[in-house]
Amino acid sequence: MLLLPMKTVIEPIKIKSIEPIPITTVGQRKKLIKEAFYNTFYLKSENVTIDLLTDSGTTAMSASQWGRIMEGDEAYAGSKSYYKFENAVKGFTNYKFIIPTHQGRAAERILFTIIGGKGKAIPSNTHFDTTRSNVEYSGAKAMDFPTKIGIMPEVVDDFKGNMDIEALEAFIKKTGKENIPLCMLTVTNNSGGGQPVSMKNIRDTKSLLKKYGIPLYLDCCRFAENAYFIKLREKGYEKKSVKEIAVEMFSYADGCLMSAKKDGLSNTGGFIGTNDEKISNKAKELLIITEGFTTYGGLARRDLEALAVGFEEVFDENYLRYRVEQVKYLGDKLIEAGVPILVPTGGHAVYLDAKRFAPHILPEYFPGQSITCEIYVTGGIRVVEIGSVMFGRKDKNGKHIAPPMELVRCAIPRRVYTESHINYTAEAIIEVFKSRNKLRGMKIVWEVPFLRHFTAKFDYI
Ligand SMILES: Cc1ncc(COP(=O)(O)O)c(C=O)c1O
Repeated sequence: MLLLPMKTVIEPIKIKSIEPIPITTVGQRKKLIKEAFYNTFYLKSENVTIDLLTDSGTTAMSASQWGRIMEGDEAYAGSKSYYKFENAVKGFTNYKFIIPTHQGRAAERILFTIIGGKGKAIPSNTHFDTTRSNVEYSGAKAMDFPTKIGIMPEVVDDFKGNMDIEALEAFIKKTGKENIPLCMLTVTNNSGGGQPVSMKNIRDTKSLLKKYGIPLYLDCCRFAENAYFIKLREKGYEKKSVKEIAVEMFSYADGCLMSAKKDGLSNTGGFIGTNDEKISNKAKELLIITEGFTTYGGLARRDLEALAVGFEEVFDENYLRYRVEQVKYLGDKLIEAGVPILVPTGGHAVYLDAKRFAPHILPEYFPGQSITCEIYVTGGIRVVEIGSVMFGRKDKNGKHIAPPMELVRCAIPRRVYTESHINYTAEAIIEVFKSRNKLRGMKIVWEVPFLRHFTAKFDYI
């Protein structure tokens, strides 16, 4: 793919259909965030000016995706749309069995119901929140093995999403290979800052696991962004196409789970890919019980059409360059103003480092949540905490156990916002940073045991 010759990176798309964005006042937003229990998940989108809550399912679809939606073959079984989807997925994964699901966590629930359970452990570079919860819900333990550098937000490195292979091997020896039904590798590593995993690390993880007979599965929501970083940063891959790199990434794994709401460039969808016929058969059985037939898995068949096109468009290197540069553009503006962020910027989001942003708030008083609320009040921008709210735990005595990082994620939806939206976002975050001393600690006043961040209610202490 020929990249544009100028230094200026432009959006390689033009606007065909528009949606007005709401504009509110500071006074209104103070009231709205209070009414939302200081949790941005409770805000109505009609009150959000720039929505950086997630890059999941928030993609703007292309004209050809909308066109193909009209071609959806809504047959219950054997739909043409399923075969187009399956063909597209096999085109980069090469896995024998492709099982569609309505989104990523449905794939997680099915897989971990099959292979998880009490006494089992599932290691990963870093599990995402829903992955961790589905592992734990099955009764198994979810273990993270990021590298030391991977949890240092201020240190720049090319592949901070990597697995700590030595720590993984020590864990396998301690736990026993018979208790580890598979190992996950999240590409890119979302909870670790959207950081990529190198091809070498994928290969090395696979050869270690092979020694112990443990299968490797990729959590591959952002596989194309990961492959693009490999092209930019790993020796020997400069001249390969992103698709060739992706194919190699998948070749080291025995299967994958995907939330296709990310690099499927669509608003919904997911799948399990595997070479294991037994897992595939069991997964299909569970799929039929709770999701739908094997050729739609809870999706409208038109969604499978959109995904089949999305899986072609995502390999456009002009698109990937713009994608990664847009995230970097926001990161650079914040760095220039002295705002502490996780560096380097990753593939889909800028992560504010809440520990350095609001050092006067201890992790148990949720510095990231406080920053999140203030960003909404200041600019009507919705972001999300990825720290003690999302991953915090309590010990036996009820004492807070903080995760390694306290982050605030500003996730950028694909193909949605323009440069002026990003400039506006930077301006608002910088304003919050300038008056950071006024940020106050928070407490949870209501929560549920699993995935509490989605519905917890907060107040200031
Ligand atoms: C790495 C990772 N895995 C799994 C998921 C879950 O996917 P879904 O939201 O489609 O259920 C996400 C969603 O953000 C994710 O980022």
